[in-house]
Amino acid sequence: MTEKQYGGSTGRKIGNIVSNINNSKADKILADKNKFDGDNIINRSESISDSPISSDEEKIIRAGKIASQIKIYAKSIVRRGASLLEIAEKIEAEIEKLGGKPAFPVNLSIDNIAAHYTPSHDDKTIAQGLLKVDIGVSIDGWAADTAFSIDLENNEENKKIIEASKDALNNALKVAKKGVSTDEIGSIISKTIESHGLSPIINLSGHSMNKYELHAGITIPNINDKKNVSLKEGLYAIEPFATTGSGRVHDGKPSGIYELKETKNVRSLIAREVLEFIMQEYNTLPFCSRWIVNKFGTRALFGLKQLEDNGNLHHYNQLVEIPGSKVSQAEQTILISKDKVVVTTL
Ligand code: CO
Repeated sequence: MTEKQYGGSTGRKIGNIVSNINNSKADKILADKNKFDGDNIINRSESISDSPISSDEEKIIRAGKIASQIKIYAKSIVRRGASLLEIAEKIEAEIEKLGGKPAFPVNLSIDNIAAHYTPSHDDKTIAQGLLKVDIGVSIDGWAADTAFSIDLENNEENKKIIEASKDALNNALKVAKKGVSTDEIGSIISKTIESHGLSPIINLSGHSMNKYELHAGITIPNINDKKNVSLKEGLYAIEPFATTGSGRVHDGKPSGIYELKETKNVRSLIAREVLEFIMQEYNTLPFCSRWIVNKFGTRALFGLKQLEDNGNLHHYNQLVEIPGSKVSQAEQTILISKDKVVVTTL
C-alpha cells in the first residue's frame, strides 16, 4: 500500500527497527486503551524475547516469502473478466493458508485508479485494463508489501507503462542501502520513468514499516523531494508509479479501507463489538468493510460508520489520476541491515 504525501514532514523521527519495537504507534494506541480498562487485548510480551532481532527478522523474512508465493498465485487467477471480489477473497484466503495474515486488504486498482481500491462485499467490478495488484502479508505485525501490474487488454501501451515502473523499481533496488539518501532514490525513480516517456506520480511514495505500522515515518519518494533523509537499518517498501496522466493523484471515492486511530468509547453496541474485533484481529493494520461484513453481516456497516464519525477510524480514499489516464505500479519490500540489503518479497 502506498503513502500519499500531503506536503510537509510529520516531524517524526524513526530509528532502527529494534529500538522501536516497544515504541510503535500500535503500542501507543493500545496502551491508551489498556490504561482504561486493564484488558490487555493485544499481547505485547511476544516482542520481548532474548533475541528480538533474530526473531523479528525471521518473521519479516517469512512474511516476504509468503508474499512472493502469493504473487505467483495471484498471477495464476487474475484474468480479464474475472470478478475483483473473487480475486481479492481468493488471494486473502491463500495468504492465510500459507500461515500469514493480510497486512491490508488486497488492492486491485484499474487504469486511472492508482491505489486503494479494494472490492466491497457486494462489488460487481470485473478485472480489465491495466490492473495493479498490491498485496500485504503480516506475520505478527511485520509486513511484506509488494505489488505488480498486469495488462488485461494485450495492449502495447499498457505493457510500456508497466515496464516503466518495473524498471524504476529495479534501478532503485540497485542503490538502496544503509546511508543512501532518499533524494537519490527518488531521482533515480523519476529519471527512469521519464526515460520511458512517462511521468512518476510525485505525491505517492514508498515508506518505512514497523511492527503493526505500515507507514512508519520515512518516505521513499518517486522524485527527488530534496528532503535528504538517509536510509537507516530497517524495513522499507519501495513503490514507483508510472503514469500517462498528470503525475499527481487526488482523493477519489471512499475506499472501504480503514485503519484504527483511537480506541475511545463509542455509543452503539454494534460499533463497540466491531471495535473490539478490529483491535483483536487487525490491531493498527488497515482492514476493509468487506472483512467486517464477512464477520458480522451488513448490520456492521452502521457500526463502521459510527466508528468513523466518532474518530476511532481513518477511512482511506481511493487515489485516482485524471480520467482517461493509466497508471502502473511495481513494489518490493527491503530489509536494510548494517552491511546488507535483502529484498524480502523477491
Ligand atoms: Co506500500
